[in-house]
Amino acid sequence: MTHARYPALRPRRSRAHAWSRALVAETILSPADLIWPLFVTSGTGTREPVGTMPGVERLSVDLLGAAAKEAAALGIPCLALFPNTPAAARSDDGAEALNPDNLMCRAVRAIKESGAAIGVLTDVALDPYTSHGHDGLLDAQHRIVNDASVAVLVQQAVTLARAGADIIAPSDMMDGRVGAIRDALEAGGFHDVQIMAYAAKYASAFYGPFRDAVGSGGYLKGDKKTYQMDYANSEEALREVALDLAEGADSVMVKPGLPYLDIVRRVKDRFEVPVFAYQVSGEYAMMQAAVAAGVLDRDRAMIETLTAFKRAGCSGVLTYFARNCARLLG
Ligand code: PBG
Repeated sequence: MTHARYPALRPRRSRAHAWSRALVAETILSPADLIWPLFVTSGTGTREPVGTMPGVERLSVDLLGAAAKEAAALGIPCLALFPNTPAAARSDDGAEALNPDNLMCRAVRAIKESGAAIGVLTDVALDPYTSHGHDGLLDAQHRIVNDASVAVLVQQAVTLARAGADIIAPSDMMDGRVGAIRDALEAGGFHDVQIMAYAAKYASAFYGPFRDAVGSGGYLKGDKKTYQMDYANSEEALREVALDLAEGADSVMVKPGLPYLDIVRRVKDRFEVPVFAYQVSGEYAMMQAAVAAGVLDRDRAMIETLTAFKRAGCSGVLTYFARNCARLLG
């Protein structure tokens, strides 16, 4: 067999012009691929910079409608909300998560009442509400108990659905929570409320700035390794995804993002479902630090990393760069 080869084959031909590169591009990044995480805080007219995440602010509920409209106008299809719960409302059992007037529920209602044409995704996990910073409940030996935690997470999910959340995103990594939440949503008549499962969520060093943003970092005792996944594993991610899909997840997420693109690709190849990834707080902070140090061009690094997520198989990406990126893609 003869092989066509240089000089007949010159891969550089198709790279020689911008028009030609555009013509053969396999991956197109658009604002419709982005989910913008927002941090919510108490007060009125309040914008608090998050120290560890340059360019990110916590917003009070009254400012969310405008932010949602701005995002929608930029073509961003969905927001993800996270609360910085006041210290006085945090407790061992995270009961504030079930308060229909907590920051999250008020935030969801405000965005829906603003009329912004945008989806609202809400995390389900107890860490922004507990005095120990864990995603579930602790027993006397400080172990995170599974089934009792699931019972509370189910109530949290229904509370958020009642407030108007479009997508429930369980990020707690308890076993069986997706099925339990799906059952409760069906029983409550919330048939159209979607579940995006944080299916392959790893115990990661890259969540540090997020814990600063929601104010849980100072409280956290120990680590989350008994429920979040070991970053040494990828077979286990497939098993987690299979379980969450069997339990009723509409889409699945891999988290963190860039160091885990191999997981995204394996999940995408194995399952015919929408896969999302979270470019998490530590990834964002790392890039912004490099930008501030003058060693990285923010816009180019942002577009390159977000395009890489899509190339790996993502339907979309949760990213703190969402607004900047959508503006740039214009
Ligand atoms: C809560 C939750 C975390 C993140 C999203 N939801 C933190 C954690 O699990 O400790 C991290 C997001 C980020 O770092 O940007 N369970």
